[in-house]
Amino acid sequence: MDLGPESSFTKFPSVVHMGDWSFFLVQGKEGYKLLSTVCPHAGGEVVDWGTSFMCPDHGWRFEMKDGVCVNGPLAQMTSFPVTVQDGHLFADVPIETFR
Ligand code: FES
Repeated sequence: MDLGPESSFTKFPSVVHMGDWSFFLVQGKEGYKLLSTVCPHAGGEVVDWGTSFMCPDHGWRFEMKDGVCVNGPLAQMTSFPVTVQDGHLFADVPIETFR
């Protein structure tokens, strides 16, 4: 999916919507990626908490580069690769994600 021109994303994380689904576009250690806002614990909605992402349901927090949980068990937000092609960002999100 074409997310738009790379130059249109000037701050990170940026919220990206695909239909009813939301993601955070971040700049991780290995480049751009999308992090799902669906919490890996029990499906709550992860929000931008300023210096981290946070799920209000049970308080899990995640660092903002790769979505690694910083105050709970070994867990990570679901991520999807984003590549740059001809100045546009393209996300590789499998169709199964939206079912
Ligand atoms: S559902 Fe997110 S912390 Fe439990």
